[in-house]
Order: sequence, then C-alpha cells, then structure tokens
Amino acid sequence: MIGKIHKQMSHDSWLFSKMATPEYTPFVFLLLLFQSSVWGVPSCHATKPGMLNVHLVPHTHDDVGWLKTVDQYFYGDRNDIQHAGVQYILDSVVDQLLKNPDRRFIYVETAFFYRWWKQQTDDMQNTVKQLVNEGRLEFVNGGWCMSDEATTHYSAVIDQMTMGLRFLNDTFGHCGRPRVAWHIDPFGHAREHASMFAQMGYDGFFFGRLDYQDRNRRMVAREQEMLWRASESLTPPMADLFTGILPNGYNPPEGFCWDQSCDDPPIRDDPDLEDYNVDDVVTRFLHIAHGQALVYKTNHIIMTMGSDFQYENANLWYKNLDKLIRYVNQMQSNGSEVNVLYSTPSCYLQELHRANLTWPLKGDDFFPYADSAHDFWTGYFTSRPALKRYERISNSYLQTCKQLEVLGGPISRKGPFGAGDSETLSKCLKAMAVAQHHDAVSGTEKQHVANDYARKLANGWAHCQVLVSNTLSSLSGSSAPRVYCEHLNISVCPLTETSKKFSVNVYNPLARPVSWPVRLPVNGTAYSISDAKGKAVDSQVVLTSTGLYYLLSLYPSLSPPLHFSLPFPLSLSISLYPSLSLSISLYLSISLYHSFLFSLPFHNYFSLSFSLHPSSLLSLCASIVTLRDFLSYLFCVCLSRYNASDGNNSESIQMSGAYIFRPNTSTPFIISKTNSVVQEVRQWFSPWVSQVVRLYTDSRALELEWTVGPVPIGDDLGKEVISRLDSSINSSGVFYTDSNGREVLQRRKDYRPTWNLRQSEPIAGNYYPINSRAYIKDDKDQLTVVTDRSQGGGSIQDGSLEIMLHRRLLYDDVRGVGEPLNETSDIYPEGLVVRGRHLLSLSPPATAADTHRPLAQEVVLQPLITFTDGELHPSTRLEVRERFSGLQAVLPPAVHLLTVSQWDQDTVLLRLEHQYQASESKEHSQPVTVNLQKLFSTLDVLGVSEMNLSANQWKDEMTRLDWKAESGTHHTGVTNQLCLLSPLGRMKTADLL
Ligand SMILES: *[C@@H]1O[C@H](CO)[C@@H](O)[C@H](O)[C@H]1NC(C)=O
Ligand SMILES: *[C@@H]1O[C@H](CO)[C@@H](O)[C@H](O)[C@H]1NC(C)=O
Ligand SMILES: [Zn+2]
Repeated sequence: MIGKIHKQMSHDSWLFSKMATPEYTPFVFLLLLFQSSVWGVPSCHATKPGMLNVHLVPHTHDDVGWLKTVDQYFYGDRNDIQHAGVQYILDSVVDQLLKNPDRRFIYVETAFFYRWWKQQTDDMQNTVKQLVNEGRLEFVNGGWCMSDEATTHYSAVIDQMTMGLRFLNDTFGHCGRPRVAWHIDPFGHAREHASMFAQMGYDGFFFGRLDYQDRNRRMVAREQEMLWRASESLTPPMADLFTGILPNGYNPPEGFCWDQSCDDPPIRDDPDLEDYNVDDVVTRFLHIAHGQALVYKTNHIIMTMGSDFQYENANLWYKNLDKLIRYVNQMQSNGSEVNVLYSTPSCYLQELHRANLTWPLKGDDFFPYADSAHDFWTGYFTSRPALKRYERISNSYLQTCKQLEVLGGPISRKGPFGAGDSETLSKCLKAMAVAQHHDAVSGTEKQHVANDYARKLANGWAHCQVLVSNTLSSLSGSSAPRVYCEHLNISVCPLTETSKKFSVNVYNPLARPVSWPVRLPVNGTAYSISDAKGKAVDSQVVLTSTGLYYLLSLYPSLSPPLHFSLPFPLSLSISLYPSLSLSISLYLSISLYHSFLFSLPFHNYFSLSFSLHPSSLLSLCASIVTLRDFLSYLFCVCLSRYNASDGNNSESIQMSGAYIFRPNTSTPFIISKTNSVVQEVRQWFSPWVSQVVRLYTDSRALELEWTVGPVPIGDDLGKEVISRLDSSINSSGVFYTDSNGREVLQRRKDYRPTWNLRQSEPIAGNYYPINSRAYIKDDKDQLTVVTDRSQGGGSIQDGSLEIMLHRRLLYDDVRGVGEPLNETSDIYPEGLVVRGRHLLSLSPPATAADTHRPLAQEVVLQPLITFTDGELHPSTRLEVRERFSGLQAVLPPAVHLLTVSQWDQDTVLLRLEHQYQASESKEHSQPVTVNLQKLFSTLDVLGVSEMNLSANQWKDEMTRLDWKAESGTHHTGVTNQLCLLSPLGRMKTADLL
C-alpha cells in the first residue's frame, strides 16, 4: 500500500484494506514531498561464497535503566552499583571506528544516543554522519529504548519507536534508518511486536532469549532462523518478519570477551615471547565457528561481540578483533575455509537473503520464556503492579495531551496557565518512552530505578497539564484554574472533599461515545448534580466499606465516593458547564447529556444474584441471567495466593523473584472468607485483600475492584496474590490472551504449538502475559476479563481463569537485579497496597469481541476528568462553551483513533487503526471507509501523505526484503526499481561498483 493523497486528487476517502486488522494506517497531513535518493556507498564487507563466513558484530547492550537510573547510566554515575557509563562508550567507539575503516559498530538505544549527540561539536557531528553514511556506524532497532514485549501496550511501543526513529531520520536521513529490529534481551517475544516491526519497515529481527526446550529443538533442526507470520489478519507479507535467534544470547563466544569488564586473555602475538597464544586463539575460534555452523542453515554465521555496557574502552575490543580477523583469515592460505569479517546485523541479513532458501514459518509467539526446567520468567508479567498501572494511565494522559495540543493550536503553548515550549510535550513523551524499556514497565529494575521512572512520568504529566489547561480554557472559554485529581483511584481529591460547589469537565480521547462511571470522594451525603441546562442528574452516594479500611486509616479525610455515570454522545467531547444554583448546600455540577441511575440489582444486560459458594463458603458466586437471551449462568470469583518458593526444594533451588514465578505448591490458598453487602457487593477476604463487585446500569461488564496489600510476610514467605474466576464454561484446556493489547492468541494448557513441551512447572509454566484482556469460551459462552494494566495469568483448570494481581517476595531470583521484589514506600511502610479493576463480560462467543474490544479501549484511553472550583461566574456563562467535539462525527466502531499529534508546525500525524481481528466479529471485521476530509471539526486537511507505522518512511518508499516460507508460499511485491532504496538495492549497487 503505497501512495500519497494530494488535495488535487479526488481521493478524499481512504479504504482500509480488507482484513480487519489492525492495519495501522497512519497519515500525515499536508503536502509533503520527498526526494528519493540512491544508496551509493558499499558498506558491507565482501564475503567468500565457498567458505564459512563469520560475521563479527561489535555491539553494546545499554539498558535504559535497570540497576541504575537512565541518567546514572548515561554519565557513568554510581559505578559502585554497576560499572557503566554510556557517554564514554560512544566517545570511545567513535574514536576507534576512525582508526580503522574496516571496523563496524551498531547502536541501538536512541534515548542514549540522542543525549550524547546533543553534547557533540559540529565537527564531531559531521564525523559521525560520515561514519553513518559509510555504514561503519549502523543503527539497529533505533527506538528510544528496547521495549519490553510482555508488559507493554502497542500504542506506547509505537510512540517510543516513532520518537527514536524520527530523531534518526531527522539527523541522518535515509542512512540512519535501521533495517533490523534487535531485541536481544527481552524475556520472551510477543507476536504483536513482530507485526509492528514488519509494519515499521524492518527487514529482519534478531533476539537472544527463548525457551530452552524450543531452542534445543531448533538447533537440532536448524530452525533458528525463520519467517514469523505475525498476524492472522494482515495479508502476507505485511506482517511477515524474518526472525533469527542469536547463537549465545547476545554475548561473545566463550573465551572471546575482550572488554575491560572481562578476563579472557588478549591475543598475544609476539612470537618471540613465551606467552604467544595466536595458534591457541585461532584453533579455539575455528572450533567454535564450526560448531555454530552445524546449527544454522547457511554458510554465514553471526557472533555478537559485546554485552551489557561494554566498549567503554573500545580499544581493547577492537585491537583484539583486528588481530582475530587477521590471524584467522591468514589460515586460509593453509586451506582453512573460514572467513571472518567485521559486520552488522543488516549485512548478515543481506547474506541470508541472498542464500535464497526457504525458511520455517512461525505463527505463535515466544511466551512463556524458561531458561531451565523450574525457571519460568512469568513473574514479571505482574511484578510492580502499581508501576504497571501508572505507566498505562500515563499513556492515556499522553494521548490526551497530544490531542489537545493539536486541537488547541498555538494557544496550547501560550495560554493563561503558562508558556510551554517544544519540550513541554516531549518531557512526557520521553518519560513514557523510557518506561517501555525491558527493565522498566516489566518491573525488573531496582527499587530506586522504579521510583525514578515514576518520578519522570509524574514530571512529564505536570508539564502536559499546562498544555491541557491552556487548551481547555481556550476551547471552553473559561479561564478558571483547573484542578487535576490524580489520586481518584484511592478516593482522594482534596477539591471534591472540601468544596461546596465545583464543576467537572470531562474529555474523552476516544473517537466514539463512552459511558464512564465517575466516582468522587465527597464529604457528606446531600449532593445535587446538575448539567449545563440546570437539569438534575441522578447520582448516588455510597459509603465506603471495610474494603477500604486500610486506606481509611491512612487518609483520615477519606470521604464516601459519589457515583454517577457519564454518557458521551460524541467523541472528543469537551464539556464544561457552569453549575446552577439549587438550594442545597453541597452540589456538583457536571457535564451530562443524559444520565443513568446507578443501582443494584442491575438490568439491561444482566441480572445478578449473589450467593456464597455452596461448597466452601469461601468464594463469591454470581448467577447471571442475561435478559436478552435468558441464558442463565454461574460463576464464582475468589482471591487466593500462592506462597513463593524460597529455593528450598528438592527439584530446584530456584526462588520466585522479580523475573521468575515459582510457587512452592500448585494449589493456591484461599485467603480467608467473604461477606456481602447489599448495594455494591463487597468481598473482604482478610484485612489485606478485598474486592468490590459493581455493576453499572448501562454497562455490559461487571466491575471487580480489587485492593491487595500490604501483603503480610510475617511468616517469612513471599506471596503472589491471584484472582480466580471459576465458571461452568467447558474450556477444554484452552484460553486466550491478547498480545500487547492487540491481536488475541490461543493458549492451551501444558502445550506449545511449535514443540513437544515437557511441562515442569504446572502453574508458572502455564502463565502468559495479559496486556488488556483474556478469555475462556465454549460453544455457548465467552467469559472475558478486561484488565487495567498488564498482568500474568492462565487457565489451570477447565472453566477457570486466574490472574495474578500483586507479588511480594523475599528473595532475589538471581537474574541480575540483586534485590527481592519487596515494595514499600513512605506512605506504605508496611508494604505497597495496590488497587485495580477487572471488567468481566459474558457474551455468546460470536459477539464477544463487539464488547471486549471497545471495553478494553475505554480502559486504555480513559476520559480525563478535571475540576474547577466554585460556580462559574454567571456573567461569563453565556460565553462558556458547554460542549466541544474535535471530530465532525463519531468514527465507525471498527476504527480506532490511535494517534493525533502535532508533527511540525503545519502538520499533524494521524494514525487510524482497524481494531478488529479478522473474522472475530461478524459486524465489525469488515473493511471500513473513513473520510479524512471530514474528520476534524476545527482543522482543514490540505493534503495527506501516507507513512509506515513508525512514521519514518513514506509509504511509497517502503520496500522490504522478500522471504520464502517453507510451506512454499512465495511472497512477491518488491520490484527491482524500488529495491534501489531498500537494503537489497544498496547491496546491489555495491555489487555493481
Ligand atoms: C532462488 O531459488 C529459486 C528456486 O528455489 C530459483 O528459481 C531462483 O532463480 C533463485 N534466485 C536467485 C536470485 O538465485
Ligand atoms: C527523512 O529525512 C529526510 C532527510 O532529512 C527527509 O527528506 C525525509 O522526508 C524524512 N522522511 C520522513 C518520513 O520524515
Ligand atoms: Zn537489557
């Protein structure tokens, strides 16, 4: 799909391609022209056809925060924690590249490179540009960071990739565009990531970690390189990605680490000296190379010469690598058939492509990851649940902020609430981007680093608030100070708890109406709520329960939350209403079109009756009669826990920790017992575990609000708390989880689609990442749980779905972080308390997606609620705009407005996404047409240019290498002429020279 739409052309609408998916279709407004250019400089060293070619790839793996914060890593601060300083690495590498034009280096994390670049002189910048143009310094991956794959949401991943890749393109042009995606460290690999990389124009993908059983099988079968078909919805080869498994994680072969942090012997090549070791080094190297060639298909193999934060003194590495290449290749005159060369992942990929082979096809994903029989990296799916939620809500803030920057125009940067600059939004963008790192949102960093990520997010949002306030004031016509209540999740909002009159303003970032319950802590029970027209709005005051008792003790001022729901008849609606003076002492004015009374029992979709579990009295069961089809249905929900393994075990000494999940028995302990109350149903399992079950009148989902913590550790056992739903659904060992919030994959207990699993951990080995939803189903029913953050979970029994909520552990799991996952804070010295929501829906499988797709989007992009104190002055009331919609009309249900953000002064980046998977919905998995001219209410579209998913390539410049799958399917679609712009073309040009 290549093309640009200009105003003169008659295309004012765009047909989404057929499959439902999720074809991300980003457009950039305005007439933008591009100039094609042709690669001219050969950058890959020649290889030798009849020989085994060993591609040495010098690299460093620079975590964007882990044991140290991202800032400490950049400067090399706190070397007492870990010796690592990225600024010195880049200084040293550039210096060493200049010493020998044969040398190569790859760089990955733009978060670091960007900082370093800003500090260089013009001369140095020009030198580096030259290195990049000549292919001596090559960017791979190139996102702001190397994102985690299990716990990230696709929308945030696309943003962070876009930011890194945009900097590279702006700075280096075409030569700075990475051709290869490089996720050498993440702990398992998501299919959606592969799909995104394909749509971002990458030609190949390399990683280091996969299940040890899978790896062993692939080595024997020579299937370590494959074609990953990463979408069931996109037509091949749109989401096909060539994928390679690196030979030794991302480390150099044993005995060949020449970094200052390693102890391997240097090459001592003075033959007059006693310790001359060239023969020994060459022999060992040839042995390793031949061994490696046995488990790969072609006469090319790759070796990653580097590791974590290496190359700070690059001379050590390069001096020895120069010699290695010289001495190993000298053996060719003695009949050796091994040829060693400096290389990069894209040069290696190029050779694999030239081999013109067929490759095995991969359709599922690489979760869960185990590095040994009792070592499943499934704990981090849930680790640091509060940080995971904060990251997710920050994404919602950021998207709202970007939309409001566009809708507000220049006023957003210089309104009444302060002047922003170009950094205003980028603070938030950068904070979100580093939070995607595989030791950030994953929860596998040290505590002080987790605090730093959270601090950066808070700082980013504070900057965004200026912009948001400016825009809202301009759009609403009211310059009353705007108050943000960021602690509504724990029922804290000083304004609503103390003010006698206040107004609420709601901004919905979705492009369709939503109904969203607003719960505010208030001080008293007599409230009157009116909409802009003075019409009374129904509401209900609910007293807090014992479930909140812990929070109560911490926040003595905690007041009963007030419930009401807000329907949004139009998308992108901003509403701000003056309150009307009714004669009741406390009242709330709120923007409502119409409203619903919140009450139990609930109607419309369900009728609920609760009972205690007949057999155990330990879980809460609900029988549901759906009023539409009169299906009656029973499920039970209870919270339980696993005790964590402390390593004291005959099978393995592996402990449960930040990365690894390993319970010490396979049966969860039910946590105490339950009681129920009328209005909302509350389950109080113990002083530290409770749950409130709610159903809003107009909602199709049951809300389970869980509160867990502080997890007691007085018995010296770490604990991992789960929520388990047991139902009568006949799920036959099969369940479903989403991939990065997008396509859904089928999972089966004790089974992997691509190899014969020997299951060694009945619980942890059946856990998968859940980013936004999971479900079980049979012919008649589907029970879906939508989560508000990434969590781990599985279906251990038929009809059951369990999701891990919180973990508190007393041991480090020996994967490097060196701390037990035992979160406390100033406010929670006894241990972190976490609260979250699960939304449960029950539908016939055929229509389930029609409910859970929009539901999940509503949780990901939730309305921004802001407040103004008091009544707006009556005299200004006429000018105050009551409603505003940035869109001319609601978008079709299948279309999700993924991105609206200012690109440059006159240009807006827009991403529209077909959000349904192929054939998951009869109604919505159909092609759909959107008229871009008629999209926005306040913006005129002058022209449109289409780009790839990461917006670093014009769609009509986008050509990818063409790979053949073993099944015999050959994908065509790349023409020779366009190849001139692809890596293939670059190499072809080089050949001709
Ligand atoms: C690739 O292999 C196919 C047969 O599988 C052959 O027809 C084709 O010519 C080969 N292409 C090149 C460039 O060698
Ligand atoms: C990439 O950078 C080049 C050179 O600055 C520019 O011409 C091109 O338009 C940019 N591409 C995109 C997609 O922004
Ligand atoms: Zn890492």
